[in-house]
Amino acid sequence: ETLEWDAEDAGKSGYDHYMLKEIHEQPTALRQCLRGRVDELSGIVTLEELDSVGSVSDVQLVACGTSYHAAVFGASLLCDRGVRATAMLASEYSSERVPVDSSTLVVGVTQSGETADTMRALREANKAGGETVAVTNTVGSSAARECDHALYIRAGPEIGVAATKTFASQQVALTLLACHLGGEATHELVRTLRDVPDQIQTILDTSRATSIAQTYVDSDAFFFIGRGSQYPVALEGALKLKEISYEHAEGFAAGELKHGPLALVTEDTPVFAMVTGDDEQARKTVSNVKEVNARGAPVVAVTDGQTNVDRYADHVLEVPPSTEIGTAITANVQLQLLAYWIAHELGRSIDKPRHLAKSVTVE
Ligand code: G6P
Repeated sequence: ETLEWDAEDAGKSGYDHYMLKEIHEQPTALRQCLRGRVDELSGIVTLEELDSVGSVSDVQLVACGTSYHAAVFGASLLCDRGVRATAMLASEYSSERVPVDSSTLVVGVTQSGETADTMRALREANKAGGETVAVTNTVGSSAARECDHALYIRAGPEIGVAATKTFASQQVALTLLACHLGGEATHELVRTLRDVPDQIQTILDTSRATSIAQTYVDSDAFFFIGRGSQYPVALEGALKLKEISYEHAEGFAAGELKHGPLALVTEDTPVFAMVTGDDEQARKTVSNVKEVNARGAPVVAVTDGQTNVDRYADHVLEVPPSTEIGTAITANVQLQLLAYWIAHELGRSIDKPRHLAKSVTVE
């Protein structure tokens, strides 16, 4: 008797798809990213690879796709720490339109380190005299070689075309970068980073995303809304869903809904709202949820339970209470699972979606 053995299935360690395996690898990936980089007692973040970065007046983050969403997240963290920062789509970047000099730090966020648009932007930034950093998963990649410095996200190989664990690792690596440039981490932040791997594990063990996917799989379109650090999560949730399910999905800043997108909202368009924390931002997003609820849209709140958003929501996907950085990482995990299970219901080619490539080497 011979045992059938398939190298591809073996690589999936029992999961149906690499994507699901990689979603489950996130606690490990984040621990690897953090290892040796944060001192729990002092809150001091040590990124030896960036020790030789000169004085920085402003940071420009350039990236594509999922990495761009991580860049938007990173830029807002840098701004919170008093560092001037903007995120730009690499394909739209031009060092002529945005001034670059020797005190400009241009950060290319690129999982593969090979994306043509990002490489062009980094080359341009280097030529214009900026200092460059590659935030990448791939040791020795083109981006790592092109840039003055490389900050590795240490997520391990990602096979699924849709980026999952590498996004979470980029979020953590950019949080560390923001601390490195903008002062040490607070104890609250150190605790956030220490706890987030276990919190992701809790979500992986208890998520109700499978049943929510079954409930809404036949919808006309899917909308995602978030504010502040949840805004890039809304963008990423929509991108993940469209990439692997081929369904129409859009992510919006919660406050922008009323400036146009609200016209698309009907009872056949579920709205996924990220509502975390209990500050003014969260309360404003609850008001936006009320608006879509009043128009008959089903609402799924991704929430830590700190507001009364559940009153206006048809379903809740829970995330553990944390800081805004922590909940932006964990809320995204719920959306990854949602996208996965919707695509699964539809029988899509999850690891190799049509028309897409893991790394795009043309402009
Ligand atoms: C492709 C992939 C995306 C990825 C983007 C940027 O479009 O399909 O998943 O986010 O490239 O890739 P990078 O390797 O630069 O992060």
